Formats: sequence, structure tokens, C-alpha cells
Amino acid sequence: GKRVVSGVQPTGSVHLGIILVPLKIGSLSRLDTYETLFFIVDLHAITLQYDARQLSEATRSTAALYLACGVDTTKASVFVQSHVREHVELMWLLSSTTPIGWLNRMIQFKEKSLKAGDENVGVALLTYPVLMASDILLYQADFVPVGEDQKQHLELTRELADRVNYLYGGKKWKKLGGRGGALFKVPEALIPPAGARVMSLTDGLSKMSKSAPSDQSRINLLDTKDVIANKIKRCKTDSLPGLEFGNPDRPECHNLLSIYQLVSGKSKEEVASECQNMNWGTFKPILTDALVDHLQPIQERYSEITSDSGHLDKILAEGASRATAIAETTLKNVYQAMGFLKR
Ligand code: TYM
Repeated sequence: GKRVVSGVQPTGSVHLGIILVPLKIGSLSRLDTYETLFFIVDLHAITLQYDARQLSEATRSTAALYLACGVDTTKASVFVQSHVREHVELMWLLSSTTPIGWLNRMIQFKEKSLKAGDENVGVALLTYPVLMASDILLYQADFVPVGEDQKQHLELTRELADRVNYLYGGKKWKKLGGRGGALFKVPEALIPPAGARVMSLTDGLSKMSKSAPSDQSRINLLDTKDVIANKIKRCKTDSLPGLEFGNPDRPECHNLLSIYQLVSGKSKEEVASECQNMNWGTFKPILTDALVDHLQPIQERYSEITSDSGHLDKILAEGASRATAIAETTLKNVYQAMGFLKR
């Protein structure tokens, strides 16, 4: 079967923008043709200032929330990145062949480091994409479901895989006693059409994000019905007649219709024709209901999962041990291909 991997940072407020990936992993995990691995990237979470007292709890609750989105743990491996040491080990090996120029060009690095200021930025923020590449390449992944904002990191992962395959794979590896061939599978990004870039409720031109100061800008997966209703009531709109996708003068309109499409499960065409003659007063309660209907079962499963932390820990431990088995093989091959003395 095809292998699918993805990761998410542990954070206190998991918002609607992030839901797409667990939904996708969830639906693929229920199919027999895919093998899914899904991890909480706690090692990535320390690349910007963070609160050490909250990291472990955020890791656990993020894992629970993702499981609640429908990931089938009898089939998928769900685990914590730091529990599989091979991620960091492979990262070191990969970093030797990653040109600094590639990392300097990363948009997320530029944005985040600009915001924090040079003296406050650790080296790990720069090498962040190398760790991400190792998360993916360790498992010889075929597909990586992500949002639009991770596209550039995926592109770098692909280029890095090609580069390492070229430098150390194939005949050179065979001469060193390996089986030859490619060391890494070159993965493909899977960016679903609806929800790949969910925008802020208060500004249709910026991304819905966990770090935005105002909680009004996002719908959190654990928001209550009243909170959701209030956020939708107060969200930014416009005063043009009707509702439509794709009008560059109406980014908020496009975003709210896209959110409706995402949570209602309807097609874009259905949503476009259903809403074309609506005004905001009609649409907002419909959107609110669709959001509540979509999130309620997730919230119920979330409280079930968090009520039994022993069970959750067991799922994470099993996930880590399945992942380790795959990761060990890849890492061993890379060491051999790069010429290290066997231990
Ligand atoms: P993170 O934790 O910021 O986000 C998790 C996933 O959610 C997507 N996403 C969004 N999609 C649509 N609209 C939004 N507003 C929005 N905000 C976030 C992200 O694209 C991501 O897919 N570097 C990654 C985590 C990571 C990873 C990996 C992903 C580490 N290693 C290996 C895939 C494979 C990140 O910070 O995602």
C-alpha cells in the first residue's frame, strides 16, 4: 500500500485551519490501501519561544484532538516525534547535505525570524525544514497531506531526497555493500482543494493562525456553540449583494464560503448556488449551525479520549514502536550509504 505521513505542532488552541489534515489522515486511515503515520511534532514546537511547563500537556491534548477527528488507531500509527529518536539522528545526516541557501529562502523562516528578531532566534528555526524532511523521508512516504503554507517545505524535502539519492544512493551505495537503488522515496504533497488555506475571521487576507493575538480571528476545535455563534456574528464581512467565491475584492466572502464548504462536506458548486442570493444575515446562522454540527462529535470524542489518559498513552506508545521499526531500517541504510563504520 501507499504510505501517508503528516505532522502537527502541539499547541493549546487547535483551530479550524488545521483540521483538514487529521480529517484526510482519518479518512485514508480507514482504507486498506494506505498505511498512515501521524505524529505530534514536539521537537518543532521548541523552535520559537515556548512554555516548558505546558509542552507535555499540549502534546497530549493535541494528540487527543487529532484522534477525535477520526484517525483510526487500529490502523494508523499515531505517535510523538521525540519518542522516535531516529528523527533527530537522520536530521543531522541530512543537514550535512542541505545548502544554507535553501534554508535562508524559506518563507516561514523569514517571516518568523523577522518577527522575533535575530538575537531571539535559535539555529533550530533555520534548520526546522531539515527536521521536517527527516520526519517524512524516514518513512519512505508516498503522500504528505498538508495545508498550502507547507508547500515550500515539501518542495525542499523533495529536493533534498533527490540530492541525497544522487550523492549517496544507487551504484555508490551498492559498492559499499548496500542493496543499491534509491535511499529515499521522493514524496508528494497532498493539498486538498477545500480548506488548504483557511483565513482569519477578522481579515480575509491573513491566515487563520494559532499565534494571532485575537481569539476572535479563529474557530478553535473546542469552542462551544455560543462562542462559535458569537465569532461568526462578529466576523468581518462586506456590504456587496449576494455571496460569491473568487472575487478578489471579497476575500472574507470567499473564506467564509470555503469554511462552509469544508464543514458541510458540500461541493463548491453546491455551495455557490445555494448561497449566491443570500445576504449575510441569512448565511451566518447557516454557517454557525454547520460549524457546530461538524465540531460537536469531534468534541464528544475528544472528551472520551482525554478521560482515559492511560489508553491514550498506550496508543502513543504503540504508534512509536511501529514507527521506530520503519525508521530504524531507513537510518541504517543511510549510515551505510554515507560510509559510516558499522556498529
Ligand atoms: P502546523 O502545526 O503549523 O499545522 C499543521 C497542519 O495544518 C495546516 N494548516 C493550515 N491549513 C489550512 N489553513 C490554515 N490556516 C492552516 N494552518 C495550518 C498546515 O499546513 C499543516 O499541514 N511544519 C508543520 C508540521 C510538520 C509536518 C512534518 C507536516 C512537521 N513535520 C512532516 C507534515 C510532515 C507545521 O508547523 O504545521
